[in-house]
Amino acid sequence: MKPLVNKIVCIGAGYVGGPTMAVIADHCPDIDVTVLDLNAERIAAWNSEDLPVYEPGLAEVVSRARGRNLRFVGQAEGAAYVAAADAVFISVNTPTKTEGEGAGKASDLRYVESCARFIAAHATGHTIVIEKSTMPVRAADCVKSILASAGPGVTFDILSNPEFLAEGTAIRDLEQPDRVLIGGERPEPIAALAEIYRRWVPAERVLSTGLWSAELSKLVANAFLAQRVSSINSISALCEVTGADIEEVASVIGTDSRIGPKFLRASVGFGGSCFQKDLLSLIYISESYGLTEVSAYWQQVVDLNQWQKHRFADQIAAPIATDAGSLRGRRIAILGFAFKKDTNDVRETPAIDVCRRLLARGATLAVHDYKVTPDSVASEIGTQGVEVAATPEAALAGADGVAVLTEWSAYAKLDWARLAGMLKAGAVIHDGRNIVDAAAIRRAGLNLRSIGKGGQSNT
Ligand code: NAD
Ligand code: UGA
Repeated sequence: MKPLVNKIVCIGAGYVGGPTMAVIADHCPDIDVTVLDLNAERIAAWNSEDLPVYEPGLAEVVSRARGRNLRFVGQAEGAAYVAAADAVFISVNTPTKTEGEGAGKASDLRYVESCARFIAAHATGHTIVIEKSTMPVRAADCVKSILASAGPGVTFDILSNPEFLAEGTAIRDLEQPDRVLIGGERPEPIAALAEIYRRWVPAERVLSTGLWSAELSKLVANAFLAQRVSSINSISALCEVTGADIEEVASVIGTDSRIGPKFLRASVGFGGSCFQKDLLSLIYISESYGLTEVSAYWQQVVDLNQWQKHRFADQIAAPIATDAGSLRGRRIAILGFAFKKDTNDVRETPAIDVCRRLLARGATLAVHDYKVTPDSVASEIGTQGVEVAATPEAALAGADGVAVLTEWSAYAKLDWARLAGMLKAGAVIHDGRNIVDAAAIRRAGLNLRSIGKGGQSNT
């Protein structure tokens, strides 16, 4: 049977738009998928062998579908595809507003609004417009009011289909999602979109709700995940002063089926483009409805995360700072800059706060990461006092202190017996991910400080 949706356009070729559309195109060779973006450089990269997003498995999926039923085009070329589309996904960035009402908390919907204007200007006949971007609850009202400016005979349905993929596991998450959520107002467009996902997602995992519940569920899912990280990180500090071990505590509480074992890894803090922005959005929405206790509750998740990053940076500084607190003349190796392993994404990475705090005290940093480019490091923390090292060894050479900030698997396999001689005498390795080989470090005569491990008197 011919699918109800034959031609799809996705506006926004970022970390979500690119991989999501590639997986849809891969599973639905009969559906024509066009991804458009106003960033010409990004589009050129999607059309090259050097994709703009690093995700395990992504290159294979793109290479199967690109040139068959998947194409990446610029904004101008995209207009004709929007005109012909049955469904248009909006998958653009929704960052925290930096100016105007709600600055610092509310989501900035200007990119979404500009997509809605573009769709209104070019769509023909009936089009299903799908919010893939993470939106504040009731944002669809704003999209609807812009679409209402389209010419006569042009009609729309709006769906909310938020994305739950995590970076580093995007392809796996898209292939085998816990659930696909479709919120809408009428059953027909919901069914049309559900039909696409059901090609590879079991029917019981394709959920449908009202529009507002779908929009809100996405924010709440991220808030609950971030809250777990802040919860375990708060306990990591308690472990350090009481002699308990956060990994033992996490493993014990995780066996309670009501709590579950996932998302209980203590860390230097959560990062990524979404947790903080979505928490702030939830906080702003709650405030704007006068629910101050609700907003204060979620604000604490953000505050605890900030505190954890600063606490970690201060622990790195403590054993090597002068009495006046200066780190001038001290070289610190930063192992890992991405906000988590298996991604090149540095948006809101905890490394930014840790590095800036150390730089502010005069330290020199030698930063290594397996996928982050020197340009990305420079754009976040500048180049003053910052050296980007090509290998972990180059970062470690002559270091007074070491900070492991990303859980790249290769850092777990570092040969500390060989590396020990490269570090300055007395250098402490601060493991912000509890990933390094602690026994090997101790055997090599080095000092280790792990997150949430009590009884660490060596610093
Ligand atoms: P991104 O910044 O990587 O990509 C967004 C793209 O949209 C950019 O390439 C930008 O040039 C393009 N764009 C902006 N305005 C445009 C316009 N008017 N016309 C054409 N292109 C335009 O963002 P992302 O990480 O893909 O996130 C997109 C949305 O998905 C956000 O709302 C985010 O909260 C949500 N989300 C992200 C993730 C993630 O892991 N990154 C996961 C789930 C949900
Ligand atoms: C997160 C959610 O997991 C996705 O479901 C969601 O779609 C996405 O946000 C989004 O909306 O953008 P992501 O940020 O890519 O995905 O990665 P996570 O695996 O959630 O990690 C977020 C941060 O928390 C990372 O810095 C990670 O290192 C940290 N984290 C995670 C911990 O410190 N401890 C944990 O136990 C888990």
